[in-house]
Amino acid sequence: MTDYSTFGRHSFGPDFIWGTATAAYQIEGAVDRDGRSPSVWDTFSHQKGKIKTGETADSACEFYDRYESDLLLHKELGFDSFRFSLSWSRILPDGVGPSQGGRLNEAGLAFYDRLIDHCLALGITPWITLYHWDLPQALETKGGWPNRSIVNWFSEFADVCTKAFGHKVKHWIILNEPLAFSVLGYFTGQHAPGRRSFRNLLPVIHHTALAQAEGGRVVRRNVSGAHVGTTFSCSPIDPFTSSTRDQAAAVRVDALLNRLFIEPSLGLGYPKELSFLAGITKKVAKPGDMEQLAFNFDFIGLQHYFRAVVEGSYFIPYLWASQVSPLQRNVQTITEMGWEVYPESMYRVIQQFSQYEGIKKIYITESGAAFFDTVQQGAVNDVARLDYHRNYLQQVLRAKRDGFAVDGYFAWTFLDNFEWAEGYRPRFGLVHVDFRTQQRIIKASGRWFQQLLSNEHQLANLTSTV
Ligand code: GAL
Repeated sequence: MTDYSTFGRHSFGPDFIWGTATAAYQIEGAVDRDGRSPSVWDTFSHQKGKIKTGETADSACEFYDRYESDLLLHKELGFDSFRFSLSWSRILPDGVGPSQGGRLNEAGLAFYDRLIDHCLALGITPWITLYHWDLPQALETKGGWPNRSIVNWFSEFADVCTKAFGHKVKHWIILNEPLAFSVLGYFTGQHAPGRRSFRNLLPVIHHTALAQAEGGRVVRRNVSGAHVGTTFSCSPIDPFTSSTRDQAAAVRVDALLNRLFIEPSLGLGYPKELSFLAGITKKVAKPGDMEQLAFNFDFIGLQHYFRAVVEGSYFIPYLWASQVSPLQRNVQTITEMGWEVYPESMYRVIQQFSQYEGIKKIYITESGAAFFDTVQQGAVNDVARLDYHRNYLQQVLRAKRDGFAVDGYFAWTFLDNFEWAEGYRPRFGLVHVDFRTQQRIIKASGRWFQQLLSNEHQLANLTSTV
């Protein structure tokens, strides 16, 4: 048996990508500076009761002003790639650009240009996410994702960004977790823009899937030598019992959580196991759409945190299934988000997605954990987070050794930041941020990565505390 418990950077091979992942709204701050207009997240976070802690990301990590020193820290940690997203409303404050009568904000473009140049000067490869959930409010006012025009709005945004940066940036990610923003934003209302209606859900899903493929085509057209992908949230789904009812529930949840957006992009259409999706082809799609959903991505980004255990339920319409939470299952190893720590699930998602013939390469574009941190004598000894990354990485290595085409790991996340509807409380960073003083402290988990990445022969399990 191969022993995966000790590993070093070299174990993953010379081409393996090591990065951290971030998102504009979660770190930048400066929400009203240099011509940026509000996004749906600005509107949402300022509404009473939407964010658990009542906080907003008006300042966040002040990354807009601190990106130079922050990138030096990133360099110090030893990661060679940095994933960040572009704020659409910083670049196109009207949502639409010049070809549809809107303004192009040169100051917004200039910020990202400086950020990219700074990465390159430090030898850090930029990976751009075009859309990480912060739709310009101006477009939400025109109907947002339920409005089919979003496909043109998004494609113009992608066009502007790739024309501006495509000569310097080759790694492009079209969407961050389409399932999360479509379902949480337009169906359950827990995320911006906070709309709740089943009527919107099918159009949102379909327009998102169309925009995903269209965005890919724009990048391919405008960026020579582009390496283009898109990302999906994913979890292996286990039935709570072996009953036929729970097993059937697991199949449906899998179709929703894991297959909904990858399959249309591979030309396989929407999963048939969810009968309500048939409404897309019957009522929402236009002739020719089903072909337009497919795009030949160079890679797929998997974002994995936890597994899900489900049972059949008569109370959840359409899905007829509900999650059996880790607490109900007496699972002790959970994060501050209530998510089960279950490293083997990392192997299983890689294995599951590798079964699609059309997927050429997989990167783990997010994985990480929120635990309660304390600063003691200027240090944060976050052993639980360190263990999380080590154990999940071990499973990535196992998958790689078993021949699956997984070739990168982006830790979520570089800096503690604004965790959407949860506010600043759950901390996922490898670097601690004091949100009053903006002081940064590299946590033990960050030091662990630093050791792993700097020393070719470092054995990762020998260093659980620093
Ligand atoms: C992902 C999301 C990130 C981050 C992370 C931790 O779904 O893309 O922005 O919030 O979860 O919850």
